[in-house]
Amino acid sequence: MKWKTRITEMLGCDYPILLGAFAGYDDSDLTAAISEAGGFGILTASYFQGEDAFQNALRKIKNMTKKPFGINFSIDKEITPDHPFYRYLEIAKEEGVKTIITAAYKVDQFGKKAKEYGMNWIHKVTVMKHGIKGVNMGADAIILTGLEGGGLKNPNQNTLFINMVHAKRLLKVPFIASGGISDGKGMLAALVLGAQAVHLCTAFLATKESPIPDDWKQQLIDADCFDPKVIKKICHFESERPKYVPYSLAVGTIEKIRSAGELIKKMVGEAETILKTMGVQQDIVDFTQI
Ligand SMILES: Cc1cc2nc3c(=O)[nH]c(=O)nc-3n(C[C@H](O)[C@H](O)[C@H](O)COP(=O)(O)O)c2cc1C
Repeated sequence: MKWKTRITEMLGCDYPILLGAFAGYDDSDLTAAISEAGGFGILTASYFQGEDAFQNALRKIKNMTKKPFGINFSIDKEITPDHPFYRYLEIAKEEGVKTIITAAYKVDQFGKKAKEYGMNWIHKVTVMKHGIKGVNMGADAIILTGLEGGGLKNPNQNTLFINMVHAKRLLKVPFIASGGISDGKGMLAALVLGAQAVHLCTAFLATKESPIPDDWKQQLIDADCFDPKVIKKICHFESERPKYVPYSLAVGTIEKIRSAGELIKKMVGEAETILKTMGVQQDIVDFTQI
């Protein structure tokens, strides 16, 4: 089947499956593997210390795959024009990168610069309010991460399901579902609820190409998403402040370490089996109008 969504059309990838950012590691191998398998790999810029290291990573990915990939710029606070990311953005343009993702607060000018360079600008948020702001700033799409997700948590996060029920109505650009998604059923459900792609971090952390240490990968296999301690850790109901968690409720379906390509193939296979069981006969499954 050919998969068509507003995000696959925008990004030029085969499947609506995006790699979530994770700071602290060089994720260039994983980015290349995901794009090569038909998903959309996203390099996390904040790992790279200096322009040369960043440019080398982009060139390495381009040697590993001819398919498109994006760059995540995670910015803690405000980004001023002297921030090194402005130079990284220029390098990305020179290297032919067509899509950037911002995860930050005040990124109006940075996003506008990406638009001037002819790039797609996706803004990544944890609460709907910031998603609406991202649309008003001029972003082309919004990644909205639900309570189930990992990384830096916002105490006001809502669940992925509730986000999806409301996102289409409240966000006037395509939205990408994020938070606890790890399989083909989750992907298909998100698309049916109006998302135009899914964004996975934890599930891709547990792949062969992922750069995290093996004992962390083992934790992803061992963690039980029904364990009250795990639920509390990820949902952090009692915290009033943003807090970082090393994985998400996606851990429930991670039973072994696969290659990123195998994971994508498995997800797409599961979703296609469901569609065929429902009697969908078309060669192209088109979610652009949903
Ligand atoms: C270990 C870890 C580190 C993360 N670091 C970042 C980051 O640097 N920038 C960012 O935008 N998101 C970061 N995230 C959030 C993920 O990209 C993603 O939005 C979130 O984990 C939801 O996806 P998941 O449930 O598939 O993990 C991180 C998540 C994890 C688990």
